[in-house]
Amino acid sequence: MKADLIIKNIDNLITLKGPNRPRVKEEMKEINIINNGIVAIKEDKIIYVGEGELPNNIETDESTVFIDGRGKTVTPGLIDPHTHLVHGGSRENELAMKLNGYGYLDILAAGGGIHSTVKATKEASFEELYEKAKKSLDIMLGFGVTTVEAKSGYGLDDFETEIKQMEVAKKLNEDHPVDIVSTFMGAHAIPSTYKENPRGFIDLIIEKMIPYVKEKNLAKYIDVFCEKGVFSVEESREILKAGQKYGLLAKVHADEIEPLGGAELAAEVGCISAEHLVAASDKGIKKMGEEGVVAVLLPATSFNLQTGKFAKARKMIEEGVAVALSTDYNPGSSPTENMQLVMSFASLIMKLTPEEVITAATINAAAALKLEEEIGSIEIGKKADIVIFDAPNLNYIIYHFGINHTDKVVKNGKLVYKKSNKII
Ligand code: NIG
Ligand code: FE
Repeated sequence: MKADLIIKNIDNLITLKGPNRPRVKEEMKEINIINNGIVAIKEDKIIYVGEGELPNNIETDESTVFIDGRGKTVTPGLIDPHTHLVHGGSRENELAMKLNGYGYLDILAAGGGIHSTVKATKEASFEELYEKAKKSLDIMLGFGVTTVEAKSGYGLDDFETEIKQMEVAKKLNEDHPVDIVSTFMGAHAIPSTYKENPRGFIDLIIEKMIPYVKEKNLAKYIDVFCEKGVFSVEESREILKAGQKYGLLAKVHADEIEPLGGAELAAEVGCISAEHLVAASDKGIKKMGEEGVVAVLLPATSFNLQTGKFAKARKMIEEGVAVALSTDYNPGSSPTENMQLVMSFASLIMKLTPEEVITAATINAAAALKLEEEIGSIEIGKKADIVIFDAPNLNYIIYHFGINHTDKVVKNGKLVYKKSNKII
């Protein structure tokens, strides 16, 4: 077999080799480091992973591309499983409010927050949304991210805008090297037009929007903001179950601010993941572990909201919950595309070890999207999505925080990003 691309002499090749399922407890530490590692790629797939030189059955010729991994740490492409990638406008105006002590839910209840992004997203054209999201996607790729989940939810009852967001994500998935998977999140807030009649909005989602999203294949997942003053546990259950009836995989924004019982709900209805979980109860965490719901933790959001409250990641790992990480990139509560910063926060604030962090940002993040068979580890047969970090070891990437350590990114077997330190 002829290889198209070889990465060799890799000082630290971190393969994450292991079962294609969410990794829990001690498994989160078993990241499989190969010194003097080598990876061979044909087309978009990995065909060999090992130490030293290639075996005899793998050939190279003048068209084979070689990348030198000396002094480098190589990992699977990072996966960002929770973002609000496609949206109009930005919300830096909320900074002063936050500094003056207004909470996220206060701003939302006063008609700001998500509602102001709904307005900006409605006003933006398809092209404007596409260009803005593309710019973010380029930044994400630069940070080593090769798969991104993108949620709708800035159209709400304006279904045209919801569809526009998902169409932009679809087009970007076709055009951009990064893979984008879509989530329908019409249930992101109660629109002002339905303030007095939230039931009417829930009916609209269940009866009109979900069937349409499925028919047009606009999303693979469904998500609900289950939160005090937004959607109750009962309403969230109804919406998630309606989505599941149409074959959408359920995810839920759970217990972000108030301990409503979102974690318990996720376990009860069989969500693939529950996200945020800052206020999740011990009982809810236990149930998530029992039912195999992946916890997607978003420390950049906690940081930005300035509450000082972070999800209990250590408790979750003890209870056998598979922990994943994500940026939650959005214009309000987490305006950052930087997955490496999230990894540093996960360790420095939530006390995950570097091994747990890289597991959470690769194979467990893949599992939060039910993509663990295809991506999330460097193993034969998996997609050739690989990051080459200009770092001597994993600890260095996490400890030397706030900067970009990416040297190169290989996506679907192609070299798609190369660091340039040129000063002009
Ligand atoms: O995950 N909490 C709800 N949704 C987003 C924020 C969206 C926004 O504020 O625009 C989140 O944090
Ligand atoms: Fe979110």
